[in-house]
Amino acid sequence: MSVRTVPEPYLALDDEVLDSRIRAAKEELGSSTVILGHHYQRDDVIAHADVTGDSFKLARLGAARTDATYIVFCGVHFMAESADILRAPRQTVVLPDLNAGCSMADMAPTEDVLLAGETLDRLGVRTVPVTYMNSTAELKAFCGDRGGAVCTSSNAKAIFEWAFQREPKIFFFPDEHLGRNTGLALGIPLASMVVWDPAKESGGLTREDLERARVILWKGCCSVHTKFQLRHVEERRREDPGVRILVHPEVPYEVVQAADEVGSTEHIIHVLEKAPAGSRWAVGTEYHLVNRLARRHADKKISILSKDFCLCATMYRISPQNLLWALENLLEGNVVNAIRVPENVKRGARVALDRMLQVG
Ligand code: 13P
Ligand code: SF4
Repeated sequence: MSVRTVPEPYLALDDEVLDSRIRAAKEELGSSTVILGHHYQRDDVIAHADVTGDSFKLARLGAARTDATYIVFCGVHFMAESADILRAPRQTVVLPDLNAGCSMADMAPTEDVLLAGETLDRLGVRTVPVTYMNSTAELKAFCGDRGGAVCTSSNAKAIFEWAFQREPKIFFFPDEHLGRNTGLALGIPLASMVVWDPAKESGGLTREDLERARVILWKGCCSVHTKFQLRHVEERRREDPGVRILVHPEVPYEVVQAADEVGSTEHIIHVLEKAPAGSRWAVGTEYHLVNRLARRHADKKISILSKDFCLCATMYRISPQNLLWALENLLEGNVVNAIRVPENVKRGARVALDRMLQVG
């Protein structure tokens, strides 16, 4: 197995050639290969996915596809790692571009979170650690080994409830906003949620701050979703008082509070599918998904909440060129860009992911 980047000749192929060669490679690979596509993938990639979904659905359905030898993940690194942790022994997970990371996951380096955990232990602050799916496998293992779990945007509330049955406090990373929005949805006041800043001694928090906290939030965020601001909601409502605002829970809490609906990418798709013809929507999530939904539901008026360019640059790294290259290599019996989580990390990470899948 090797780690490489897409060779020059693939970069010169035009769109039609790429499309037909991907279809041909898929046909030839048959049921040996399943392509998973996250909803933020570009149109010319998602068109080839056998299964599309949010992080939770892809983790669940990917794990169920034990018939396939190869799982080609069109998404970002933490999603492919989760698929590798959950896969059956004879399967291999491929990420067509290993540079498809997540800037939010990068905001929680493993050693910083472990150090924070040690500090909390030293201060005698008991917590259940909960990590958002958007994190390294090592952090998932940290949660698994310490009685915690993973959550995604579609089950964060259920996982918080599960965690509160075990301890009165949750240590949540890396998305400050998802954590705060979930806490508020459970009726936890803002004053009972504190932010751990890894750049400061003891997270910048006093013993009293930690004692009164119900949720300790990591200082991390999504660079795409934090572009959506309260002023965008106000502007859109001024322009059209009948518009409905639908956002992802990675947006800041003021935006969620002012919105009509909040939910994962899968939930956003579901809400817009069910919406009546003629209804008008401003959607706070990634550009590719919103544009696709606007085209799919031409009988409804769907647009992105902010006029800023809210594109996930790392999701965009997966291209028809590197997808084709990965598939044609599989046809030759070569596996490029396989994701391999070390066994010692996998054990704890699997415990945390399994807890999530059990809670739902
Ligand atoms: P979903 O699980 O809602 O698809 O979100 C994943 C993600 O990375 C959003 O930024
Ligand atoms: Fe990460 Fe944000 Fe991209 Fe999702 S949209 S993968 S959280 S950078």
